[in-house]
Amino acid sequence: LRIAHVSVEMAPIAKVGGMGDVVTALARAVQEEGHEVEVILPKFDIINYAEVRNLQPRGDFFSSNVQVKVWTGEVEDIRTTFLDPQNGIFNVNCIYGRNDDAGRFAVFCSAALEYLKHHSPQMPDIVHAHDWPTAPVAFGDLGAECKSIFTIHNLNYGADLIGRAMAVAAAGTTVSPTYAAEVSGHPAVAPHMTKFYGIRNGIDQDIWDPLEDRFLPRNYGVEDAASGKAAAKAELRSRMELSSADVPLVAVVTRLTHQKGIHLIKHAAWRTLERGAQFVLLGSAPDPRVQNEFNGMAAEMARQYPDRARCCFSYDEPLSHLIYAGADMLLVPSIFEPCGLTQMIAMRYGTVPVVRKTGGLNDTVFDVDDDEERASSQGMVTNGYNFEGTDAGGVDYALNRALAAWNNDKQEWADLLQRIMEQDWSWSEPALDYIELYYKAIKR
Ligand code: ADP
Ligand code: GLC
Repeated sequence: LRIAHVSVEMAPIAKVGGMGDVVTALARAVQEEGHEVEVILPKFDIINYAEVRNLQPRGDFFSSNVQVKVWTGEVEDIRTTFLDPQNGIFNVNCIYGRNDDAGRFAVFCSAALEYLKHHSPQMPDIVHAHDWPTAPVAFGDLGAECKSIFTIHNLNYGADLIGRAMAVAAAGTTVSPTYAAEVSGHPAVAPHMTKFYGIRNGIDQDIWDPLEDRFLPRNYGVEDAASGKAAAKAELRSRMELSSADVPLVAVVTRLTHQKGIHLIKHAAWRTLERGAQFVLLGSAPDPRVQNEFNGMAAEMARQYPDRARCCFSYDEPLSHLIYAGADMLLVPSIFEPCGLTQMIAMRYGTVPVVRKTGGLNDTVFDVDDDEERASSQGMVTNGYNFEGTDAGGVDYALNRALAAWNNDKQEWADLLQRIMEQDWSWSEPALDYIELYYKAIKR
């Protein structure tokens, strides 16, 4: 098959959240199954083009009176085409966050359609579009020979565009079975349930691999997890200027938006400190009001608990790796979460997830105390702590049990680490589900 992904995010060169990881990792996994895969991306000025191999100009064309230059290169071994409209709309120092986002992405989508139909070496069999920015490609005219697949990563933005894409696409997907069920009543999705699938994301186990990770002080696997994690924890504490007391370290790595359960993050941070543990947050806040709130919390924590709490407000890939390895628990109290990658990454590094039971968090985290049966019925193992509800009591319930487990039974904790590190969150299986869907779409 020939598959072209059209997206506005692609890790590591253009990433805001998990969608970028998914586009790259899914493209790679499908390519490894022997298919021809390409990603089409706007030529953003924020991309570090040194990370793109063999970047070359490939001529130009006109789309709605705008000259569009074409570049090709390779990102993580995937052929990548960059569309570069000459009106400067992608030279604005960001991917999202401007009032004209919808207009800019509409220009990109028209250009992508024009490129695919008239200027690319060969029309793909499948065009796979991601979230509202590229919805117009999925509902655009691709001709009879090419089918579109549309993946919803987050239904909270651009629902009207998503509804149109869902109506026209040969199939729609979202990124976990539980989120698929949660949004099944949504007007953008409900009329299209017969061609709507929930396929859980994987993670790229080469990028997220404690045995190879160049951002860790010492690499480790299941056998030497205790010492490898101890080294990472020591390094993290020294970088964050935290004490080396024998206490657990609870971490959060997230975009700081409503979706991620801001009030629950704050509550859990204080609760963690009150219980004697340490707390590290790595958060990127697109909204200055949210940032202000967190600045207040960080300052107060630094005053009350100078050697036990640190908040870093940035997007910092290398630091995220050290945190996944050095923390004991990763907290993900999202209000909703289509899939979530951080809980899977954490487990890969032997860090125990403490999550709210929603969306993909529900499909990947099985409570040590409560979910034995649910886990084994799905061929999974218990691997973390979870809670329901959106009030403080819920998150306390899960966090308290996790902290108590760390404190009370070191052997059981070590067994848990081993269990979670042995799980397989790779794209191997989900990629096969997508390939099956691509073939189904072609037959439609
Ligand atoms: P979402 O896409 O909703 O942000 P996911 O859990 O699917 O949530 O993906 C988040 C991705 O972004 C992960 O790869 C995570 O490591 C990364 N990430 C989130 N916030 C930060 C940050 N502040 N610094 C570095 N990486 C981050
Ligand atoms: C979105 C969702 C997140 C998901 C990611 C990748 O950003 O918020 O839950 O993991 O897309 O699909």
